[in-house]
Amino acid sequence: MRSPTLHIAIIGAGTVGSVLGRILVENRHRITAVVSRSTSSARRCGRFLSCRTVSTSLDVIPQKTQVIMITTPHGAVQDVARALANRTGLSWKGIAVCHASGMLTADVLAPLRDVGATVFSFHPLQTFPREFSPRKIVPSARGIVYGVDGPPDGIRMARRLARALEGKILLVPPEMREFYHAACVVASNHLTTLLGILDAFYHDIAPGRRDFLDAFLPILQATIINVRSTSPSQALTGPVARGGTDTIARHFEAITRYAPALIPYYARMTLETLRLAMEKHSLTNAQVKDLSQLSLSYLNQPFEPEESH
Ligand SMILES: NC(=O)c1ccc[n+]([C@@H]2O[C@H](COP(=O)([O-])OP(=O)(O)OC[C@H]3O[C@@H](n4cnc5c(N)ncnc54)[C@H](OP(=O)(O)O)[C@@H]3O)[C@@H](O)[C@H]2O)c1
Repeated sequence: MRSPTLHIAIIGAGTVGSVLGRILVENRHRITAVVSRSTSSARRCGRFLSCRTVSTSLDVIPQKTQVIMITTPHGAVQDVARALANRTGLSWKGIAVCHASGMLTADVLAPLRDVGATVFSFHPLQTFPREFSPRKIVPSARGIVYGVDGPPDGIRMARRLARALEGKILLVPPEMREFYHAACVVASNHLTTLLGILDAFYHDIAPGRRDFLDAFLPILQATIINVRSTSPSQALTGPVARGGTDTIARHFEAITRYAPALIPYYARMTLETLRLAMEKHSLTNAQVKDLSQLSLSYLNQPFEPEESH
């Protein structure tokens, strides 16, 4: 059954605001106002969200608004919260305000809580590349998880908003906010770095070809599916899981020859893979010792970033 229509205002007409706003509109919720720093962004986003009330001023947000989503960069959230709290002519009872920052808790919205608004943090656990059009990102933002904290009434509204976006919430203890955000960085940014490393390997194996994902996508996808259906340690295959020190030693030699800058990465990840393999209790003490000593001997090579082009 469809949830009752929500009336939502968006402050910060960038990628996240446009994408989440669009999912809400497609699910028959209403955008009451779009406010941004520049008129051009506010207008563009307003057109995308079928909202005519667009402005650079917070004064246009109407009383019928139930949720105000602050989707500015995280550095602007505090100023926006203060400015909103100073806005006259709004009765805050019945209005909820959230922000989309991964790093900030609901505390940054304290000025709004103090005037009677319900507050919560509402971080979409997804990547929204600014280089892509919001329309292109919308499908990947349906049904995602939102990292949330706040008082009980805030959590209730967060649940409702997540449902309106076809998603669900993950309660993040406020003191763990930075830790949670680091996990998001591992999931998206470090995975991107890993893919960049694969691209570099492929570049040396097949010079001039840019289709590294054609070669590696099946193994990447199967790995994720296997981890999902079992666990990281159960899904682990390969030389570390088998205690194959000789193989890993020859990898180090090959990487030293073709891509020496990647040696510290390979050494660190071999150690992390060893940690995972040890959860299976399939390695002997001697294998663990050999693999860890080998990796540690390569680990502390100096980091030599390649020149950017
Ligand atoms: N991008 C991601 O992958 C991602 C993922 C999860 C969470 N988030 C979080 O979502 C939030 C928005 O990120 P984004 O990627 O959508 O950023 P963005 O594309 O740069 O959009 C931010 C928008 O906020 C507007 N803005 C800046 N300062 C403002 C102010 N003082 N008042 C009103 N509007 C203001 C900008 O203005 P103008 O265009 O009008 O100049 C811009 O349109 C951030 O807190 C970010 O940490 C981002």
